Amino acid sequence: MRVNSWNGWDPLRHVLVGRADGTMVQAPEPAVQRDFPEDGFPLGTYGPMPAEMTEAANEQLDAFATMLTRRGIRVSRPTPIDFAQTFATPDWEIPTGFGCMPPRDVLITVGTEILEATMCYRSRWFEYLCYRPVLQELFEADPDMRWETAPKPRLTDASFVPGFWDEYRTVPKTGQLARVAAHDLVLTEEEPLFDAADIARFGRDLFVQLSLVTNRKGVDWLRRHFPDHRVHPVTFTNTHPLHIDATWVPLRPGLVLHAGERLADPELVKYFEVNDWQVVEAVQPASWKHYPRLSFCSPWLAVNILNLDPGTVCVEAGEVRLADQLNSLGMEVVPVPFRAVGPFGGGLHCATVDIWREGGLEDYFPRRCGRF
Ligand code: NVA
Repeated sequence: MRVNSWNGWDPLRHVLVGRADGTMVQAPEPAVQRDFPEDGFPLGTYGPMPAEMTEAANEQLDAFATMLTRRGIRVSRPTPIDFAQTFATPDWEIPTGFGCMPPRDVLITVGTEILEATMCYRSRWFEYLCYRPVLQELFEADPDMRWETAPKPRLTDASFVPGFWDEYRTVPKTGQLARVAAHDLVLTEEEPLFDAADIARFGRDLFVQLSLVTNRKGVDWLRRHFPDHRVHPVTFTNTHPLHIDATWVPLRPGLVLHAGERLADPELVKYFEVNDWQVVEAVQPASWKHYPRLSFCSPWLAVNILNLDPGTVCVEAGEVRLADQLNSLGMEVVPVPFRAVGPFGGGLHCATVDIWREGGLEDYFPRRCGRF
């Protein structure tokens, strides 16, 4: 066993796949407020996800893990904790946790290091505990593994803009997009905050989305933590930015898939183009006529795909047009039924963390451009 992964496409040897067990609709807190009036959880209510949904999600996660194993990829799984308990620190208390389906939100592998992100939801503060058994195993097996954790945040009220959600939902779309571009959202700059899933790894370049869960101080912390990398804060025209891996998706050296509705900063596109990368607009996601209950993700979860190597990618089985598009770009597509997993926090990329990909650190962007 080894820890080694520098980008999103090198051949995958070992991966962590999440579990849906015990996932909760979280109690409201400053950073997030669930509101599913038609699905039995109106604003202010909380509780376990319906048992039949949890079972269906776990069936798809287990089948995905089995398929990966059959392809010779080692699979590790988290150890869920009781997410229905009250969690507390000296600063706050919250009646529920969340779950451990999307390990990508919490952990990122950069080279021989696995880093635990700060997170900014109180309900997710203790989620790292689910991954500790795997991290301990890796630490014991691989003498070169670096096990790091970002400063655990206080998450007092000072970390959040008071009344943000009540105010933000009254702002028209253009105003919301201006707020996103200025990164004037729910998080203050009290302390570094980031989710691991806001980081996209392209070798020496790490692109970090400023979002509802990642602030400027979080990016600054990452920049200081990875001095051998170029760490770039980026935003897209998405009114509810949350995790970069349904927006700006590396496919292989020279090719990035972009959920084009979420326009990229022209300077970012130029940086890719002057370095001979092709930016491809993804086709519209398949119609989610039967949009899953209790889901907080958009249909752009379609592009939340997982590379097995630079020529092979796992895509949700219903996303047939996207599969055709990827085929036409020379990629082999492995269709994976995964719709039932969406309401538990994401798609195939969210549900996984690369532990070992072959390959080393490379610079895919030798030319500087604008602020990049
Ligand atoms: N929050 C994103 C999904 C993240 C993988 C979206 O809803 O598009």
